Amino acid sequence: MLHTTVCDLLNIEVPIIGAPMYKVGGGKLAAAISAAGGLGMIAAGNADTPESIAEEAAEAKQGGKPYGIGLMAWVLDDHPEMVDATIAQRPDLVSVSFGTLTKYISAFKAAGLRVAAQVGSVEEAAEAIEASVDILVARGGEGGGHGRDEMSTLVLLQVVLEIADSIPVVAAGGIATASGLAAVLAAGAAGAWIGTPFLACTESATSPEARQRILRAGPGDTISTRVFDIAQGAGWPIAFPGRALRNQFTDTWHGSEEELSNSEEAREVLMQAIKTGDYDTAFIYAGQSVGLVKKETTAAEFITAITSGAEALLNRFAGSSI
Ligand SMILES: Cc1cc2nc3c(=O)[nH]c(=O)nc-3n(C[C@H](O)[C@H](O)[C@H](O)COP(=O)(O)O)c2cc1C
Repeated sequence: MLHTTVCDLLNIEVPIIGAPMYKVGGGKLAAAISAAGGLGMIAAGNADTPESIAEEAAEAKQGGKPYGIGLMAWVLDDHPEMVDATIAQRPDLVSVSFGTLTKYISAFKAAGLRVAAQVGSVEEAAEAIEASVDILVARGGEGGGHGRDEMSTLVLLQVVLEIADSIPVVAAGGIATASGLAAVLAAGAAGAWIGTPFLACTESATSPEARQRILRAGPGDTISTRVFDIAQGAGWPIAFPGRALRNQFTDTWHGSEEELSNSEEAREVLMQAIKTGDYDTAFIYAGQSVGLVKKETTAAEFITAITSGAEALLNRFAGSSI
């Protein structure tokens, strides 16, 4: 079985961390990932409250396995109550990403929690290292959902490994098959932080229509864009666009962001589409690896396939000189 330093650190069996995915991850998916030997994470976003965090956490820890809570730093700036609400749950891992990292890494570490940070640039990695983060997540621009779109996963992973010293580095963005997992482990990553492939797992909260679109999408069908955030008036910092499936809304507005920010009509059209689940207009956040997601499976089936396949690939070279 694949075993790395993050397995020991987090008390898990395989080096797979289920990325926190706001609104579509949830306690059920997190519990399924943890039950399969990985670490499942729930996400908290700006519509969450201490009560909703407690509810999701209760579901995630139902099976008594380690689990994590993923937070967005810029949301914590507006909702400081989420820091205490997270500490109260005593998760096995907290992640802080997308914003000023130092303050929150320090607060969670002071509370005795283990902390990971997703980083998308050298500067962000240096900030997290300086704040004594426990796990660095090198998240490349091909990843789904929000994050910097500055470097691809493999380049970023190499850059972060060079400065990480003894801090374990986990790779995120575009990992969906045994080949991808084997590649990042062979490069020196201590695990993979995976989001997009779990969107199509039976335990996710993805709607049936969004699920079908995910299964049909090709690797070139995503775009890293700010248009959904601009139209919704979401407070995402400009450095963190979101990678989503391309649709009529992105085709119309990507590249015309200023005009979009002044269009009340576009905002109304998007809000209505979100309500009715019309994904020609509404967003489905997903990364480039969506093109590798071809069937619906359980989280356990996915984890078994990706870890056993990666192990077989890595074993091809064990003890041999290439
Ligand atoms: C639908 C979706 C929602 C996400 N929500 C969050 C979130 O709430 N917090 C967070 O830290 N990252 C979030 N992410 C980013 C993931 O943590 C991770 O960086 C990404 O999924 C990794 O790339 P992959 O999708 O190619 O596996 C989200 C990703 C997706 C696809």
